[in-house]
Amino acid sequence: MARAALITGSSGGIGADIALKLSQNGFKVFLTGRNESRLIEQAKKCSAIGYMAGDLSDDNFLELLFRSAKDKFGQIDILINNAGSYVWSPVEKTDKSKIDEIFRLNLQVPYKLCRLAVSDMKFNKWGRIVNIGSISGIVGEANASLYSASKAGLIGLTKALALELAEHNITVNLVNPGWVKTEMVEPLFTDGILDEAEQMDMIPQRRWIEPCEISALVNYLASEDARGITGQSINLCAGLSLG
Ligand SMILES: NC(=O)c1ccc[n+]([C@@H]2O[C@H](COP(=O)([O-])OP(=O)(O)OC[C@H]3O[C@@H](n4cnc5c(N)ncnc54)[C@H](OP(=O)(O)O)[C@@H]3O)[C@@H](O)[C@H]2O)c1
Repeated sequence: MARAALITGSSGGIGADIALKLSQNGFKVFLTGRNESRLIEQAKKCSAIGYMAGDLSDDNFLELLFRSAKDKFGQIDILINNAGSYVWSPVEKTDKSKIDEIFRLNLQVPYKLCRLAVSDMKFNKWGRIVNIGSISGIVGEANASLYSASKAGLIGLTKALALELAEHNITVNLVNPGWVKTEMVEPLFTDGILDEAEQMDMIPQRRWIEPCEISALVNYLASEDARGITGQSINLCAGLSLG
């Protein structure tokens, strides 16, 4: 039986690649993001079972999304908490509205979706949750303390849920990418906030991470073969976390 995966932030960037990889490997996928036209295009590429456009920060949308995906699939076996948002800002200059916005999308939304997804996974005695963190949550990133803190919160969530759900055959893991050239980070370099050569110099492998590297790992973590891996925080960062 094909397992069913709900992937947040799958209209573009890393999430779109995760959705494609999972669909190529026989998983059924349900996509979500805010940009409906990109979502439709991506859903076609993945032969998605369904998709729904909306803002995950809106609790009503989040619950509607969950119910719709469940109705389409019958059950959700795999939850990929990938949607996230970044802000580059020295702490004293950070717009107050960003505090709620970043914590809500990067930490509360994954928690809320886990809360909704876990009952069926327990009932079915099978489940996979993969959270997408960041290397910034592991080592800290100057001028991105809000983002770093929200991603560090996912470490606690992942470990605690892994312990809580282990006996139900549900695994919970965290993947922490280094720099990936997506719409989220490209403006940092094109707008001159960060210098690409300088950043690459800090990475032992001197390179960007490709989305396909992340989707391959997520695909493995979602598979039967990875049943013994739980509560792990895995850095996929070309050595950036080594300091
Ligand atoms: N890129 C990197 O260097 C990097 C490094 C470490 C970790 N990460 C993490 O990897 C994940 C994916 O990032 P990415 O680089 O692929 O970013 P991206 O290209 O900006 O894609 C983000 C995805 O999340 C969706 N999204 C954003 N805000 C949303 C909201 N409020 N409601 C619903 N969907 C929303 C976007 O949908 P729409 O565009 O349709 O709104 C899009 O599908 C994030 O959690 C990010 O923190 C990225």
